Amino acid sequence: MEKKIDIGASNAIWVTLAFCMAFAISFYVTNASDPSPLQDFCIAANDPNSAVNGKICKNPKDVTMSDFVFKGFDKVGDTNNTQGANATLIDIKKFSAVNTLGISIARVDFAPSGLNTPHLHPLSSELFAVLEGSLYVGFVTTEYKLYDTILKKGDIIAFPQGLIHFQLNVGEKNAMAIATFGSQNPGRVNVAEGVFGTKPPILNDVLTQAFKVNETMIKLFRAQFTTDDVSEARKSVLTLLSNTF
Ligand SMILES: *[C@@H]1O[C@H](CO)[C@@H](O)[C@H](O)[C@H]1NC(C)=O
Ligand SMILES: *[C@@H]1O[C@H](CO)[C@@H](O)[C@H](O)[C@H]1NC(C)=O
Ligand SMILES: *[C@@H]1O[C@H](CO)[C@@H](O)[C@H](O)[C@H]1NC(C)=O
Repeated sequence: MEKKIDIGASNAIWVTLAFCMAFAISFYVTNASDPSPLQDFCIAANDPNSAVNGKICKNPKDVTMSDFVFKGFDKVGDTNNTQGANATLIDIKKFSAVNTLGISIARVDFAPSGLNTPHLHPLSSELFAVLEGSLYVGFVTTEYKLYDTILKKGDIIAFPQGLIHFQLNVGEKNAMAIATFGSQNPGRVNVAEGVFGTKPPILNDVLTQAFKVNETMIKLFRAQFTTDDVSEARKSVLTLLSNTF
């Protein structure tokens, strides 16, 4: 009898311990980088018929040295665009070797006054190192506190995962920075396009209320990011609902 109670108690302790560990591990995973690789490497095979969480691996027998090498990172991004900046991200879409490794890299080129527009990376934190020029940089916390500063050549800033951040060239010459990520696919959402450049456009009813301005102002903003306007069918939320449901 006594023995049975002992076993029950020790089982309860193990169950509690296992639960705590599972909780700790799940907490760790959601706050860290991509999951660890389960093998030395997993060069992404481009198989349009397979869908997994990431990319499937190329047969290791077919992997060669060139699978691990990306060429052309020294190529300056074309900054002749409306923002005067160009972020070139070398992620899983461009470089099969990073599959399952939890890493990616970008170069950001800036013309004078060029802006890497406010954006966020849903899946990764970022280390951003200035190699040329001076940049005004900042990020915004979930409490809407702005941390901003001027970075010079040789300075590195950490942008926490998921927070809105930006960089503006405040020097007289071109600037250049290298950014690294703890994900093979950090993702990027520009704040302006995420609101005014979606396909199809977000309804005026939503944006006028959110931004506390009238429809004319919303149309003005939207026209900066898309040639689409809200179609007649989507103009009224009620019409939209009756069409959809
Ligand atoms: C960035 O530069 C690349 C390479 O020069 C170019 O293909 C691309 O269109 C540029 N992107 C923008 C937004 O200007
Ligand atoms: C920049 O782009 C504009 C419009 O796309 C083009 O007319 C102009 O020639 C370009 N300038 C340079 C220096 O490439
Ligand atoms: C919309 O708002 C702007 C800015 O407040 C104002 O100048 C304009 O007259 C308004 N337009 C309409 C149609 O109410």
